[in-house]
Amino acid sequence: MADRPEFVVAPTESPAPEADRLKVLEDPGFGVHFTDHMAVVDHTTADGWHNGRVVQYAPIALDPAACVLHYAQEIFEGMKAYRHADGSIWTFRPEKNAARLQRSARRLAMPEVPEEIFLEAIRQLAQIDQAWVPEAAEGSETSLYLRPFQIGTEAFLGVRPSQASQFYVIASPSGPYFPSGVKPVDIWVSRNYHRAGFGGTGFAKCGGNYAASLAAQVEAGEHGCAQVLFLDDREEKWVEELGGMNLFFVFSDGSIVTPPTSGTILEGVTRMSLVELGRDAGHEVTERPISLDEVTTGIADGTITEVFACGTAAVITPVGSFRTEEDTWTVGGEGRSEDLDESYPVTMTLRRTLTDIQYGRAEDTKGWMHRLV
Ligand SMILES: Cc1ncc(COP(=O)(O)O)c(C=O)c1O
Repeated sequence: MADRPEFVVAPTESPAPEADRLKVLEDPGFGVHFTDHMAVVDHTTADGWHNGRVVQYAPIALDPAACVLHYAQEIFEGMKAYRHADGSIWTFRPEKNAARLQRSARRLAMPEVPEEIFLEAIRQLAQIDQAWVPEAAEGSETSLYLRPFQIGTEAFLGVRPSQASQFYVIASPSGPYFPSGVKPVDIWVSRNYHRAGFGGTGFAKCGGNYAASLAAQVEAGEHGCAQVLFLDDREEKWVEELGGMNLFFVFSDGSIVTPPTSGTILEGVTRMSLVELGRDAGHEVTERPISLDEVTTGIADGTITEVFACGTAAVITPVGSFRTEEDTWTVGGEGRSEDLDESYPVTMTLRRTLTDIQYGRAEDTKGWMHRLV
C-alpha cells in the first residue's frame, strides 16, 4: 500500500454525544480526552505495511508476551492539528515528524512507516474526527494534539526485533499549554541522572527515553521546578535539552545559540523552525555546544539575556531560572519585569511569529503548513 495508501474507514456507532464533546472542547486540558476514532496499520516482515484502517478508539488487545511490553520497541511522534479562522484544519511540517519516526524506527530496529502512510493516517483521522478540533478563538492556542506511535507486537520472549508491528494515530483535543498565560518556567539541573548517552537513543523519540527521564522529573518537582535540564553524560558539562523540549539562549548582542543535535538530543521540529525564523528576523543563530558554566556565567553577568525552551506542546516557554542544590541563576536578574514582552522580547516575538503561521494568522511563506481538512 506504499504508493497510494488506502484506509478502510469504519465509523463508530457510538461516538461521544455532542453535548459531551462540546463540554470537553470548552476546557480540554492536555492529553486526557480522546476522539472517537483511531487510525491503525499493521506490519509483518512477510507482508510489509498493510490493513490500513480507521476504527473506533478502543483499548488495544496485546499478547502478554508482546515485544513492546518487555523490550520496549515503541516509538512515537507529537504534532498538532490547528483550526484556522475559515474552519479549515492544518498541521505543521508533518513530513519532518514522518522522517523523525523513520529515524527512530531505524535506531530501534523497527520497520519504517512510509511518509505517505504516515500522512494519510493523520489526514484520515483528522477528517473523521474534525468536530474534535477546537475552534481557534482570536489569539487562542487550542488544537487537536496528534499522537502517532508504533509498537512491536510479536509474542516472543527472545531478545530480537519484533517480526510484527502496528502503527497507530490517536488524537486528543488540547487547550492552551498555559491556561493562565505564558509564564517563565524554573529548571532543575539534573546531576544524578542523564537522559541519553553516546551511541544511545537520545535522538530517537522512543518511550524508553521518557521512562528514563521520569525520576529526574520527580526530583525537579521536589525542588519546585517544572522541568529538568540534562547535561551530556561524558563530561557532565554540556547543556543538552529538557525532558521534553529543546533549549535556546539569547545573548545581549542579539545572537542566539542552541546546542547541536549530535546524537543525544531530539531534533525538534519547533527547534529547526526557530533556527530559521530567528535567522529571518536578523539574529545570528548558531548551533554549537554550550556549557553549563557559560550559561550560568552569562546569566549572572548579563551576557545571556533570555533563555527559552521549545517543543510542539508548549511552543515556546521562557525559562525563568536554572537551579541546583546550591545555586539559582535567574534569567534577567531578580528585578526582571513581569511583562514578558519587556523581559523576553526575542522569545515572545519568535513565539508570536511561529504561532501566527501555525494558526493561519500570518502568511505561510515557507510552505510549512499542510492542509488536512
Ligand atoms: C526530548 C524532547 N526534546 C525536544 C522536543 C521538541 O520537539 P518538537 O519541537 O518536534 O515537538 C520534544 C518534544 O517532542 C522532546 O520530547
